[in-house]
Amino acid sequence: MQATRKEIDFNNLGFDFIQTDWMFLSDFKNCEWDDGELLPYGSIELSPSACILNYGQGIFEGMKALKSKDGRTTLFRPSENAKRFIKSAERLVMPPFDESEFLNAVKKVVRANEHFVPPYETGGSLYIRPLMIGTEPLLGIKPAKEYKFIIFCSPVGPYFPEGFSSINLLISKKFTRASLGGTGFSKTCSNYAGTMKPATEAKKDGYDQILYLDSVFMKYISEVGSANFCAIINDTLVTPRLDGTILEGITLKSVLTIAEKKFGIKTEQRDISYLELFEDSCTETFCTGTAAVITPIGSITYQHKTKTFNNQEPGVITKKLYDTLVGIQRLDIEDEFGWVQILE
Ligand code: PLP
Ligand code: COI
Repeated sequence: MQATRKEIDFNNLGFDFIQTDWMFLSDFKNCEWDDGELLPYGSIELSPSACILNYGQGIFEGMKALKSKDGRTTLFRPSENAKRFIKSAERLVMPPFDESEFLNAVKKVVRANEHFVPPYETGGSLYIRPLMIGTEPLLGIKPAKEYKFIIFCSPVGPYFPEGFSSINLLISKKFTRASLGGTGFSKTCSNYAGTMKPATEAKKDGYDQILYLDSVFMKYISEVGSANFCAIINDTLVTPRLDGTILEGITLKSVLTIAEKKFGIKTEQRDISYLELFEDSCTETFCTGTAAVITPIGSITYQHKTKTFNNQEPGVITKKLYDTLVGIQRLDIEDEFGWVQILE
């Protein structure tokens, strides 16, 4: 959707693309990146034989700019995204995009589109999407020699239409998201293409998303496909071990720190059998992500068995972690970990 700022209803945003005024574009040719520039948002030209179109050589990141109560614009741990972008590029044999150049470009795009950052009161944010694609025309499968680095952004509301209320997940043994030695830990475009069918089927059956299992034993919780998974089991915050098949979420890392350092909650990163989630000792579950923030899970179903958590209400610990995370991000709570960058 293309809209002027005046036409956007910031109070009723979903997670849908709304065009803003400016994007950033940099080209990689002859073994180097050019300086890049801000351009009016618009289409790019691609050869039909571009590597991304045929072999999916593409990676991306997801970040947010938020408004604080006093109208300042903040970014949350942007260097973490820059570092993960380099890791993803390395996995697909793409050229690294320098961390400080990445951060400068993100700030440029946000500054140029600052009037699209939803006001504090709306709870919305400006979602920032840096991406890199292999553009060289080729036929054989090999890394491209030419790339585009692009950043666009879009004002958004909650990723799951429910907002901070519970979603319902389905555990399926029919599909997996990633396998050992694959690309699960990185943010490659192809990781997401394969989740569309499972998600479509789950939605048709009335669920919000799939809760994926590991691909070897089909037993251990992996993640949600667009967010990481956490459970409260015997008062401990438990999340799957990052074994290379799971994206190393920046929100997850932050939530683990908040839980331990601010609330003294014990945390564990370990294999979690899906059967554990159906036991009484598992009292809350939620997922974490830039888009999902902290989304409570109201129920988990496997075959004909459903476990409902807290009558579909967010659990006490889940709510405490959400309030603290968002409070830090929006400068309502002191940023004792030095995570927030204020856009000057
Ligand atoms: N897992 C996947 C597959 C994701 O796409 C995301 C979102 O980026 C996450 C987990 C959560 O990561 P982060 O908290 O860094 O956004
Ligand atoms: C994010 O949380 O930023 C994601 O990338 C998840 C999804 C929108 C792909």
